Amino acid sequence: MIIIIKKNYDELSKEAAKIIKEAILEKPNLVLGLATGSTPLGTYQELIQMHKEGILDFSRIITFNLDEYLGLSANHPQSYHYYMKKNLFGEININPENIHIPECSEGWRRTNVLRVPDGTAKDVKALCRDYEKAIQETGGIDLQILGIGSDGHIGFNEPGTSLDSRTHVAKLAESTIRDNSRFFEKKEDVPESAITMGVQTIFEAKKIILLASGENKATAVAKALEGPITSQITASILQRHSNTIVILDEKAASKLKKYG
Ligand code: F6R
Repeated sequence: MIIIIKKNYDELSKEAAKIIKEAILEKPNLVLGLATGSTPLGTYQELIQMHKEGILDFSRIITFNLDEYLGLSANHPQSYHYYMKKNLFGEININPENIHIPECSEGWRRTNVLRVPDGTAKDVKALCRDYEKAIQETGGIDLQILGIGSDGHIGFNEPGTSLDSRTHVAKLAESTIRDNSRFFEKKEDVPESAITMGVQTIFEAKKIILLASGENKATAVAKALEGPITSQITASILQRHSNTIVILDEKAASKLKKYG
């Protein structure tokens, strides 16, 4: 694992974009794994800028997103479909046919506490299998971008998720629902489940970039990078990955003993 500590979020974003740029220039049909959330926003801005300057061509890039909330339609402003369109895909020359995001919105009905299938919903297990198959058929993910949850999750692989897991339906941890409620009107609106690539799916990416910014990530980062490899902190599996670059800002790195 290579650990790079940058002064601030801006520099972190520039460093991540530089690595992605080099990968795209080397392989114009790169298979790119993407994350949503606050952390990669600056990186996506940098990539959009490079595209506008004529440095980057995305026409042959293939993408796979890590996850999507269960039961939110693609045009729901908090869905990851919407996020990707707004923050990256709508601004670059990507071929829509090359975009993959788990799709599990139709046929889910909201009850007081849960979203439940109304009988017309697609078979989610089949959907998860198809997602894995689609990744395999491209030859696998070349470069996967990751953020980290304050509970140490990658994708929506919450504490206790098997390190062997593949794309599956995950129940969001209470802390994740709390963290993500900042994007919703109220906490109750945050979906309680999502489809996510599994830990093993992520681990099979040929190269991984993990990004973390801010003090609220410092504990999770320290546990993931310096603690035991455990399903309680799914990001800790990255210690075993032979081609992972972790890019942190100083605040996110502040609880590391060896590198801080
Ligand atoms: C997003 C994802 C999550 C986030 C993580 C950090 O697609 O899979 O694992 O990367 O929750 O989110 P932010 O960046 O909003 O702190």
